[in-house]
Amino acid sequence: MRFDLVCNACGKRTSFNIHGTKCSCGGTLLVEYDLELVGRTLTKESLQWRGTSMWRYEELLPVVRKEHVVSLGEGWTPLVRLGHAERRLPIGKLWVKREEQNPTGSFKSRGFSAALSVAKEHGICKVAVNSNGNAASALAAYAGYAGMEAYVFLPQDCPGIIVEECVHYGARTFLVDGLIHDAGKIIVDGAAEQGWHNVGTLKEPGRAEGKKTMGLELAEQLGWKLPDVIVYPTGGGSGIIGMWNAFKQLRELGFVEGELPRMVSVQESGCDPLVQAIEGGGRFVAQGEDVSSNPTGMRVPNPPDGGLIVSILQESGGTALAVSGDEIREAQLAMGRQGISSSPEGAATWAGLLRLLDRGWIGAEEEVVLFNTSHAMKYLPWAAQSLPVVRSYRDWVALAGGR
Ligand SMILES: Cc1ncc(COP(=O)(O)O)c(C=O)c1O
Repeated sequence: MRFDLVCNACGKRTSFNIHGTKCSCGGTLLVEYDLELVGRTLTKESLQWRGTSMWRYEELLPVVRKEHVVSLGEGWTPLVRLGHAERRLPIGKLWVKREEQNPTGSFKSRGFSAALSVAKEHGICKVAVNSNGNAASALAAYAGYAGMEAYVFLPQDCPGIIVEECVHYGARTFLVDGLIHDAGKIIVDGAAEQGWHNVGTLKEPGRAEGKKTMGLELAEQLGWKLPDVIVYPTGGGSGIIGMWNAFKQLRELGFVEGELPRMVSVQESGCDPLVQAIEGGGRFVAQGEDVSSNPTGMRVPNPPDGGLIVSILQESGGTALAVSGDEIREAQLAMGRQGISSSPEGAATWAGLLRLLDRGWIGAEEEVVLFNTSHAMKYLPWAAQSLPVVRSYRDWVALAGGR
């Protein structure tokens, strides 16, 4: 077999199992590949002739047979250089990875392409997820495409357009009076009775693998040279976990050399357990009920393996920081003015970047990549709500003229 599962905490190896993500020691089981075997066909040269989706890295994804791949064309998203900002800020190079260009408008497409391919390979046809929004709509779309039945559970304050998307893609959609982990408990409690395959964060091995392709792709798009710093909006953490794995695998395969990027997690104040952990010396403690941040993908007070995320941030020499809702809103406009439609999560990386530059944490020669994980449109209509409404030109002059 090209891949199996290895515990990140105790190192115990087990054979690949679609339900097995928790080791008996409490650690998380992650997919590990026979890189010797992988390297025989996955080469820099062979990549030149492959299709532009995340499946170009098929040897590093846990699916055996090509016909099981469930793909809507995810991945190979643009990496755009923010030249104008580079000239204004004390920074070497600045890029934004445009994950909002994925088929479901967020980076979640990658995780569900992989997770549902694995599910298809194991004959599963009923899937369920708890989500802050984008994971639910991505599951809904990929399940629809694969002909699987999807059940999605979202906090009731999830932005309306994302809920609409879930319905639109045909998922059985339910709003939950509570946060993402309350929604997750419903699935855990009902899984046996309902026959749901739980595709929640780190509940199965596929999603983190799909997200890993963000890291593989970034390295390839930068000519197999990794940036100094990656700024990523973090909730459940599978993006950070996946990308870190990608960089390690690429180093072992000999595709990249030297230091790996410093990973930075950005969260919103009011729900920032990773920031608390980093500031408190590294011990992760789930945040209690006192959550006051906005309903975004970063609002995860109790990620499935917070300790693993913190250990990656520390190992990479990175950090975590919290930005306010107002800073995020400002940042959405700042990114918009640079032509980038960004969700609150994506914009949080811009707000985080400004803070890091202020602190002098990023050197003037350094290369930084921001991950714009989703686009602004999914979270509308906040902008429209704050605009003045006019009936006539006279009205307009009275209300808005001269502004
Ligand atoms: C747009 C967006 N960005 C970031 C995140 C957080 O990602 P992760 O779960 O990989 O930490 C989410 C999760 O819901 C999201 O929807």
